Parts: sequence; C-alpha cells; structure tokens
Amino acid sequence: MDRIRIRGGAPLNGLIPISGAKNAALPLMIASLLTDEALELGNVPRLADISSLLRIMSNFGVDHSIAGRRPGQTSETGQTIRLTARSVIDTCAPYELVSTMRASFWVIAPLVARFGEARVSMPGGCAIGTRPVDLLLMALTKLGATIEIDGGYVVAKAPKGLIGAEIEFPKVTVGGTHVALMAATLARGTTVIRNAAREPEVIDLADCLIKMGAKIEGAGTSEIVVEGVARLGGASHEVLPDRIETGTYAMAVAMTGGDVTLEHTRPELLQFALDVLGQTGAEVSTTPGGIRVKRNGNGLTSVDVTTDPFPGFPTDLQAQFMALMTRANGVSRIRETIFENRFMHVQELARLGAKIRLDGDSAYVEGVPALKGAPVMATDLRASVSLVIAGLVAEGETTINRVYHLDRGFEALETKLARCGAEIERLRG
Ligand code: EPZ
Repeated sequence: MDRIRIRGGAPLNGLIPISGAKNAALPLMIASLLTDEALELGNVPRLADISSLLRIMSNFGVDHSIAGRRPGQTSETGQTIRLTARSVIDTCAPYELVSTMRASFWVIAPLVARFGEARVSMPGGCAIGTRPVDLLLMALTKLGATIEIDGGYVVAKAPKGLIGAEIEFPKVTVGGTHVALMAATLARGTTVIRNAAREPEVIDLADCLIKMGAKIEGAGTSEIVVEGVARLGGASHEVLPDRIETGTYAMAVAMTGGDVTLEHTRPELLQFALDVLGQTGAEVSTTPGGIRVKRNGNGLTSVDVTTDPFPGFPTDLQAQFMALMTRANGVSRIRETIFENRFMHVQELARLGAKIRLDGDSAYVEGVPALKGAPVMATDLRASVSLVIAGLVAEGETTINRVYHLDRGFEALETKLARCGAEIERLRG
C-alpha cells in the first residue's frame, strides 16, 4: 500500500492548478443515465472515485470513452469523459461496487425515473459516522416510487413513471437534493424541492440537466422548481472547480507560509472559508483566474468555526482547518454540525503533538509552538489531507499511511505540492 513521506518546514511558493470538483463530477456522471444520448463531461478529475463510478456505470451497460491527452496537457489536466446510456442492460448496483463509494447510491434516481425500476445496494463510503439514506428515499417516495428493502438492497419501483410532487427536506442534504432533482426531471408535472441544498455542485448538476433539456428554476436557492419533461437529450458540460481542493491548498499555504496562486478556481465557491482564512492572518486576494494566498512571517490567529451547509463553512474543510489551528496562537473551537463522528483526525493530529480536546460536537484546539513528525494514518479523505497539512510544518519526517483515501479525492497531490517547494514523495508498495 502506498504511503506519503513529508519532511516538514519548507514554505510553499508558486502555482497550483485546481482540478474539477469530484463532488460535482460524480452526480454529473450519474445524470448520464437519464438519457440515451451521449453526455460529454470536461474537466473531470483523475481520481479513484471517478474510476469506481465508471466501473459501476459500465456494469449497467453504459458506454464510456475517455479522450486522449492533448499536447500540453499534464497528468493534472482534467479529462473529458463521454458517457452513453443507450443500451442499459441491468438496473442493479451490487454491494461490491456501491460499498466502495457512497455517492454511487444516487444512481437509484435516474434508474427509477427512466426505467421504472432500480435495485441498489445500501451504501458504504467514508467512515464519518452514520450516514443514512432515509431522506433520499423519502424524496423518491413523494415522487410516487415504492421502496422496499430486500437483502441489503433498496428496490425502487415506479412502473408507470414518477409524478411531480412537493418535497420538503427536514434537513439540508446534498445527496437528497441531487436525487430529487434528477428524478424530478423525468417526472410528470411539477416538483417543488424545499430546503434544498444550495451547494455549487447542485447548481452545476442543474446547469447540466438544463443543457440536457430539463426545466429547472431556482438551483442555488433553497427552493428548486422542476417541470418534468418526457425525455432528456445529450449535452456537453465542463465540471466546476473543486472548492474543497482549493480550500485545502489555501490552508496548506497559510500553514507553511509562502505565496501561492491557486489557478482555475473561483473565490465565490468558498467565500466563507476564505474569509475565515483571512481572519487567521493569511492574505487572500483574487487574481484573474484564481486566488492568491500569502503568509509571510506573521503568526496565525486562532478563529472559531462551525460547519454549516453552503454558504457556511464546509464540513469537508473542517479537518484541514483543524490542522491549521494546531499552530495558531490561542484556543479555537471547531464545531461540526453536519456529521457526527467526523473527528477521526484528532487522535492522529495528537500523534504529531497537537493539543485538542473533544467535547460533544466541538473540538477545542490549543495552538502549540511546533508539531513533530510521526507515522500517521487516516480513515477518510479529508482527515488524510489534514495530516498532510500538519506534516508540511512538522519537524522531521511524517509518513501518511493508507494513501488510497487521498487518491479518492486529491488529484496529483504530491506533484502539486512538490512543485511549490514541499519535500513530499510517494513511497510505492
Ligand atoms: C455530500 O455528501 C458530499 N459527498 C460530502 O463530501 C459532504 O461532506 C456532504 O455532502 C456535506 O456537504 C458528495 O458530494 C459525493 P448530505 P452527502 O446528504 O450528500 C444527513 C467528501 O469528503 N442525512 O448533505 O452524503 C447526513 O447524515 C464527502 O468529499 C440524513 O440524515 O451528505 C448528514 O448529517 C464526504 N438522511 C447530513 O444529512 C439522508 O437520507 C448532510 O448529508 C441523507 C443525509
């Protein structure tokens, strides 16, 4: 199993290209199941989760081709994937495939909407607490599907098609909103989704569905209205930049000091987190195609944050921010309100010398003058990258085990950081 070795202490200087967003690419790929025409997606990141979803889609009989690398493109340039769900031979997503990635459960929506039936294994995914699918199933039930659980599988049926309905989510759910949105595009009549997630990835999905012929209004607000259509067609769409990757590197620069421009990204995708970063003492500014982050000499100030649905502070940046706060002056309180048990990184950060006390949904992080390198390992994607951020300033050597978590969501991580001066390398095997 690959590991990543970091020798801490080097500042980061240079340019980091930001990849397409994993969490937008996944639902976009799934949306290809809604039509028998080709959906072409550009700026798709090269990640393990993308390959896993391609395997699942192939299992259904979806044809895919990946455009070759053009001159000048590097391993970090996004790829263009063309998916055609013309001859779907199977509407069952088996446990072996779904258990590797939770988002693959969302295939249930286009499958039941277009084919009237889907059988999808209950999901697996990151070890970040209980992550039920009750709200996703509630949305499909409202749209007229019958749901049964059979041998660990969810069987959704709507032989006469889905019917538009009012869906009100009791709590904001990104996956629930994606599922409701995709299913409603092919339902008869109007669907109103209330308390919808406002994440940029929801807007990206809606934009692509609109190109495919869907009638959607209000994506990006908490009320989305979908007028069902009889069929959707092909389209071509570019995946939006990854705001979590952007925020992760912004925090890495704040941690190490230096001056880095994050290219091909947009500040409005993570304004809240960038404002917080500014309060810690980093200088954040906008450049023509990206964001510049600088910290020279001055220390870090501790800041309290609470995770919230968009436009609040993202839960997917909580672990990275905690790593940053381990070196700030004073104590910061970090509250996690989206997922229970998303503090698995705490004990590993402690191995590097961090002082963190957990109390219910909050972590109290007392900044320390120095971290010390150690072997560490993490159990989810964002937790793993928080250890990379800590390792970049820890004295001596930090080895991060179970790198496959990083490979699920960070494209060419070690290359991007090494090019900016980090002493980081992948140890194969
Ligand atoms: C998406 O997960 C992201 N995944 C997650 O990113 C992200 O952390 C999360 O949204 C929140 O922003 C993808 O986009 C692929 P939710 P999702 O439904 O859709 C509860 C990463 O590291 N809930 O918005 O699964 C749930 O338990 C990943 O890239 C129910 O109670 O998250 C949580 O408390 C990790 N019942 C809250 O809602 C349901 O049926 C929000 O979850 C569904 C969710």
